[in-house]
Amino acid sequence: MTQVNIAVMISGGGTNLQALIDAEKSGIIRSGKIQLVLSNKPGAYALTRAENAGIAHKTVEKKDFPSREEYENEMIRILKEYRTDLIVLAGFMDILTPNFIRNYEDRIINIHPSLIPSFCGKGFYGLHVHEAALAKGVKVTGATVHFVNEIPDGGKIIEQKAVRVSEKDTPESLQKKVMRKAEWIILPQAVEKVSRNLLKNK
Ligand code: GRF
Repeated sequence: MTQVNIAVMISGGGTNLQALIDAEKSGIIRSGKIQLVLSNKPGAYALTRAENAGIAHKTVEKKDFPSREEYENEMIRILKEYRTDLIVLAGFMDILTPNFIRNYEDRIINIHPSLIPSFCGKGFYGLHVHEAALAKGVKVTGATVHFVNEIPDGGKIIEQKAVRVSEKDTPESLQKKVMRKAEWIILPQAVEKVSRNLLKNK
């Protein structure tokens, strides 16, 4: 194997997916290749980004399955079909069960928009994270890439980057700043690092 097969799981706009696509083009990501974009939201703009980049994409919606297990099993089936070695959760708005995670132990990574262990875990997603950071009055926040285990935002940390909070920041401005100055930079770096390690251990 010369490159790791990467699947990116998304639910929304996909600016982090775009950062990964761009990083592949610029050579920041060399040890892996995005083979699949998997969405749980039909019409998510990230799917258009995948289409534009010529990457295969699929959508699996929870409501189409009688149980959570069958929904996750369908995602696992597709991931296996694409011979996925590494899963990147990039704005995937659902918490995967241990049953799913067990299939990809140490092969699922997530980007979270705070410096873990601050402002993370259940309920800390999207703008809520930045609202909480501003409410606390922190002067520094940032982003974290970590492995996914059965504890939400609880897996081993791979990469972090700090961002200064200004007095003028709103949750929206802080969200954008954290993305631009931290998420879009450390996610590709972490993906390359983990892919390189997976290749070494093959
Ligand atoms: C990002 O803030 C990411 O940290 C969080 O969800 C958001 C996804 O944004 N997990 P995008 O879809 O990549 O633009």
